[in-house]
Amino acid sequence: MSHAAISDVLAGKYPLKETLTIKGWVRTVRSNPNFAFINLHDGSCFDPIQVIADSNLANYAEIAKLTTSCSLAITGTLVESAGKGQSFEIQATEVEIIGLVEDPDTYPMAPKRHSVEYLREHAHLRPRTNLIGAVTRVRNCLAQAIHRYFHENGFQWIATPIITASDCEGAGEMFRVSTLDAVNPPMKDNGEVDYSEDFFGKEAFLTVSGQLNVETYCCALSKVYTFGPTFRAENSNTSRHLAEFWMVEPEIAFADLATVASCAEDMLKYVFKAVLAERMDDLEFFDLRVQKGVVERLKTLTESEFVRMDYTDAIDILLKSGQKFEFPVEWGIDLSSEHERYLAEKHVGGPVILQNYPKDIKAFYMRLNDDGKTVAAMDVLAPGIGEIIGGSQREDRLDILDARMHEVDLNPEDYYWYRDLRRYGSVPHGGFGLGFERLVAYVTGVQNVRDVIPFPRAPKTASF
Ligand code: 4AD
Repeated sequence: MSHAAISDVLAGKYPLKETLTIKGWVRTVRSNPNFAFINLHDGSCFDPIQVIADSNLANYAEIAKLTTSCSLAITGTLVESAGKGQSFEIQATEVEIIGLVEDPDTYPMAPKRHSVEYLREHAHLRPRTNLIGAVTRVRNCLAQAIHRYFHENGFQWIATPIITASDCEGAGEMFRVSTLDAVNPPMKDNGEVDYSEDFFGKEAFLTVSGQLNVETYCCALSKVYTFGPTFRAENSNTSRHLAEFWMVEPEIAFADLATVASCAEDMLKYVFKAVLAERMDDLEFFDLRVQKGVVERLKTLTESEFVRMDYTDAIDILLKSGQKFEFPVEWGIDLSSEHERYLAEKHVGGPVILQNYPKDIKAFYMRLNDDGKTVAAMDVLAPGIGEIIGGSQREDRLDILDARMHEVDLNPEDYYWYRDLRRYGSVPHGGFGLGFERLVAYVTGVQNVRDVIPFPRAPKTASF
């Protein structure tokens, strides 16, 4: 027999007095000799539903002994609730106990507040907590909204490969994919590993970004995006870095940096509105328990203009700020988190789109500006977390692209396909990458990206 989702029941989709079956897990039980009050949740929404089981039920003795996370199928009558904060409850006519919790005293997810560190050590059980349940629903809502945004705006979704031979960001932070014997790989006469004997006949890696591949589709279908897992072997043990994270990467043809920046702002506002409209239950929990003000912040963000600022002006602001930064500020530096956060939190008090960075700190594919020193790059910096988006207009002029590749020691022959886009009907184009976990962390107020991805992979922490 089919059963009702608790979200639908609480949203009033069923008429009063209807007989319903619901299935889920016990959050809490209170009982006395006459009644048991069971809070049952099934993950479809933040709130559990209250079920009242009276002592006439044949298995009342077992019901009264239920503990957190026992699984149940409950049939009963939908009635109005007299309790505060809930409009409906179920008067049970049958409580089928599907699975008991063995040894409730040692059950790792006992109903109390656990630290996020403790939850990470129980990655298989943490989805049962209020925190991870709420994160999961918000993450899903954001992902669906992102796809909807691009679909409504004429973008095609492109599946870019996870296994690749190119290092998009040129930072050498790639995980190697190899079937060679790791201890005794075949060697060439010159002492290098002989990858011609490897699975792909050459070195292969997990992708750090789908951008270069998605550009090929952009230069034919005009508006495209990729949204998938990306991998970075960067040894950054911070609250903002993962070794495996998801990235949203749109790419737009016939576009300059301003168009790319507007797309980023527009998309962010669209997804903020979606989460406010669809997941207020979870957002209220984050506001109360994780970070005060997340709801207000999202509302403000959907209404305000994101400030645009040139990198050069940002350096001036930092120099004149009178702040003592750990990393000294001068034109040409790669801004660190403390600088980004100063700009977004203290100076602007909202998201900033920082543009036109020095070329020497940016990737080879970014379009050189007329000053010869900066590139048409942009980062979106958000208060509380720093950079959530990095993007640029791409270098569409072959001679300048080649010169830049030589400067950074890339072999143009390896990128013949990327160069071909500039040889055959080149167009100005650009795009950006949104770190999906940083977005989820920003929206929920959760401090560490490890707590907004189901199974975090970070240095020395990957488990099953
Ligand atoms: O600035 P990044 O490195 O840009 C690119 O990869 C471009 N190819 C994107 C493009 O233009 N299509 O990374 C983009 C975003 C960052 O702003 C950040 O939010 C996120 O990806 N990011 C990470 N998130 C979690 N863990 C990491 N190790 C991350 N590295 C980058």
